[in-house]
Amino acid sequence: MVRPLGILVGLGFCMALVFALVTTVWTMATTPTEDPKNTPYFWQQEPRPANLPSSGPFAQFDRVQLQRGFRVYKEVCAACHGLNLVSFRNLEAIGYSEDQVKTIAAEWPIQTPSVDPNTGEAAMRAPIPTDRFPSPYPNEIAARAANNNAIPPDLSLIVKARAGHQDYIYSLLTGYRDVPAELPEALRPGVGLSYNPYFASLNIAMANPLTGEGQVTYDDGTRATPDQMARDVTAFLVWTSEPKLENRIKTGWAVLGFLLIFTILAYMSYRSIWAEKKGR
Ligand code: HEC
Repeated sequence: MVRPLGILVGLGFCMALVFALVTTVWTMATTPTEDPKNTPYFWQQEPRPANLPSSGPFAQFDRVQLQRGFRVYKEVCAACHGLNLVSFRNLEAIGYSEDQVKTIAAEWPIQTPSVDPNTGEAAMRAPIPTDRFPSPYPNEIAARAANNNAIPPDLSLIVKARAGHQDYIYSLLTGYRDVPAELPEALRPGVGLSYNPYFASLNIAMANPLTGEGQVTYDDGTRATPDQMARDVTAFLVWTSEPKLENRIKTGWAVLGFLLIFTILAYMSYRSIWAEKKGR
């Protein structure tokens, strides 16, 4: 009695498998394959290398470039993006003096929320060096209202937060293109969006921020082309996302050096300890 039952159950399983195979093949054969051109993936581009001095095994910051990048942030990006993890006084690390930092904070176009010392009411005041870079919007609703329902993200850690890191940020900033003629209707930018093949959905709610040469005045004589400004502000954002990058690289090399010396010492002691036994 048990045997025919076992055979029946086995047969049932085999039938289920055959049924699954047939239906899978059938759906595969009858579903029309989607044209890859209809997916954003087809139009997306790989980030181009930003070639910054802060990349690679000998990474370091070019302080002059960081100061140029800070200028771009200050004069262009700060109108929409905060740097909520960076204080004004941190700028001393990229070569500004204490007095310069004080002036930069005092003249910052965006005020910091504060309290009126006489009435206790909410008020705004100019930032001081210990303040973080303020967000231009009091809250997310205001940020959305001003930007076509998209929130300009805080840029402090943006280089770490996006795949492709500095290459992505640089490519995005220099990646605004005309909409290709063959782009399907569904992928075309809607009202207030701009076509940018480096952005995940192809259409970004940030209009091209770096539009023309000389938008920012550099005092070191570098030509402020959009490509140069994009590179410089990206270098600055690499610094904000990892200000101690140079220390990390230096420590890494010191550790490697130590391990190398230690390996040589270990090998030499091995040779001398076993010298007798091996008859040398
Ligand atoms: C007029 C306001 C405005 C200015 C000026 C501006 N941005 Fe934006 N930015 C936005 C908005 C809005 C978004 C969100 C876009 C979205 O989600 O579609 C954004 C998004 C971004 C992103 C994130 C993209 C992503 O992958 O999510 C980066 C990086 C960025 N901006 C960098 C910059 C830099 C650098 C500058 C200065 C050169 C700058 N922005 C200037 C409004 C602005």
